[in-house]
Amino acid sequence: MSSPVADLRSYLAGLSWPDPQAPRFDPDTAPADPVELFAQWLEAAVEAGAPAPHVMTLATVDAAGRPDARVTVLEDVDESAFWVAASETSPKGKQLGRVPVAALVFHWPSLGRQVRVRGAVRPAEAARTAAAFERLSAHQRADLLADRQSGPLHDEVWLSDALGDPTELLALEGAGPVTAPTWRLWGVDAGRMEFFQAERDGHHVRLRYSRSESGYGTELLHP
Ligand SMILES: Cc1cc2nc3c(=O)[nH]c(=O)nc-3n(C[C@H](O)[C@H](O)[C@H](O)COP(=O)(O)O)c2cc1C
Repeated sequence: MSSPVADLRSYLAGLSWPDPQAPRFDPDTAPADPVELFAQWLEAAVEAGAPAPHVMTLATVDAAGRPDARVTVLEDVDESAFWVAASETSPKGKQLGRVPVAALVFHWPSLGRQVRVRGAVRPAEAARTAAAFERLSAHQRADLLADRQSGPLHDEVWLSDALGDPTELLALEGAGPVTAPTWRLWGVDAGRMEFFQAERDGHHVRLRYSRSESGYGTELLHP
């Protein structure tokens, strides 16, 4: 008799990649700055209609060296860092604060593309965090002011009340803008980035950028 797990195995065997629509990538034409190449690829993902192209996996480690990963959104990018948001009291915020290194993975399946970023983490200055907080919806701000992410949910009534009517929590803002005290942006340094382009013939292209004192160097990697 078949079981869901056995069915899953046959589904997996029938799946393939890359998508036949995947574009080509010629590393000889890549810009010297990996953040510029990231911007080009993100724009291509947007133009191709990739769903949620700014959503990525954020990997962190805890003080005991145990890895953790979750999906989150990219809040901002500048010349040197990819900025993510996390409360210092959430598991990912604690990990970013205590072991300040992280890795990011963007995956745009319809383009056969992956971008990896790995680097040191630093907290944003207060003004950058405050500006990002102001861009959030009232519900998101109320949720962050409550500061309970990833804690056990014992009281669903509390949750629906808090999310259903953020007025009370946001009344705090009547006296002026308030940023949730533990919430902040964190910058993942763009010192090492890798661009992967899947090719139908299996000759996938991997281009790695590493920054040194003299700027970025690149190398191609075996697929
Ligand atoms: C598509 C998607 C987008 C998400 N975006 C965020 C986000 O922007 N911020 C966030 O804190 N969690 C986001 N999450 C939830 C996280 O994956 C995660 O469950 C949550 O942040 C708790 O992680 P932690 O317990 O490691 O701190 C998102 C999840 C999905 C599936």
